[in-house]
Amino acid sequence: MSKSPTLLSPCQVGNITLKNRVVMAPLTRSRAGEERMPNDLMKQYYSQRKSAGLIISEATVISPQGCGWLNSPGIYSDAQMKAWQPITQALHETETPIFLQLWHCGRASHSSFQENNQLPVSASAVKPNGDYIHTPIGKQSYKTPRALETEEIPPIVEDYRLAAERAKDAGFDGVEIHAANGYLIDQFLQSKTNQRTDKYGGSIENRYRFLKEIIEAVLTVFSAGQIGVRLSPNGVFNDMGCPEYRELFIYVAQQLNSYNLAYLHLLDGLGFGFHELGVQ
Ligand SMILES: Cc1cc2nc3c(=O)[nH]c(=O)nc-3n(C[C@H](O)[C@H](O)[C@H](O)COP(=O)(O)O)c2cc1C
Repeated sequence: MSKSPTLLSPCQVGNITLKNRVVMAPLTRSRAGEERMPNDLMKQYYSQRKSAGLIISEATVISPQGCGWLNSPGIYSDAQMKAWQPITQALHETETPIFLQLWHCGRASHSSFQENNQLPVSASAVKPNGDYIHTPIGKQSYKTPRALETEEIPPIVEDYRLAAERAKDAGFDGVEIHAANGYLIDQFLQSKTNQRTDKYGGSIENRYRFLKEIIEAVLTVFSAGQIGVRLSPNGVFNDMGCPEYRELFIYVAQQLNSYNLAYLHLLDGLGFGFHELGVQ
């Protein structure tokens, strides 16, 4: 009789064989400084966790526009790409694969993070209902974001592709597209934050289009078995939750299924709070 697998048995995730089934969740640590540069402290932190079967990195911003969290790392410059290399190399010595989580904060940002103090961008001009945000100039109230023009969306998709290319050059084994927790992609998915009337808004299919284009751009860099997507269908974090969340996220999961991606990573709401729209 064959033995049942245990937590410490190897397993296959997409293209990658994990030495065990312990996967480290992405955790923002804010240790990259104002320049958002990976460094020795981060190398030490990730190396200490080398016994995991797979590590998902902390959320890492794909562009200056995507920034919305103090001291989180970036992957939008060659210098950042090179600075990630010692970290991925250290993990590869112990056969610990690491995926880079790709992040654009969208409206969960503040003008003080943005070039020329511009407003943060989102699917629509809907202000997050929240007390304050930690910014480079201290605690600030949220501002109403600027809705992206239709023609501004393909360049952001291109930023994701470029970020994936840099992630590959930096030695990451794959990427996780952060479409959870009320950040930009989630802002496009959910009707609460997407009131657009162009091809990126309205129907569920249209609201999914932004994520679809990002996946297809990243697929030109990594194979499907090296790409994961994170969603948070039940989450209230960053003032999210839309009444048709069941139909929306079932549709998104069905669409993602067609790509044969490495995995779908769901955040259930236990950690960050439920929107409770399913409570009768
Ligand atoms: C300090 C901290 C930082 C986090 N950073 C991220 C992050 O960068 N990206 C992300 O997707 N989730 C992030 N999370 C969420 C965690 O990955 C995890 O989903 C959450 O702690 C709930 O745990 P659970 O999913 O096992 O219920 C963070 C959580 C904490 C507590």
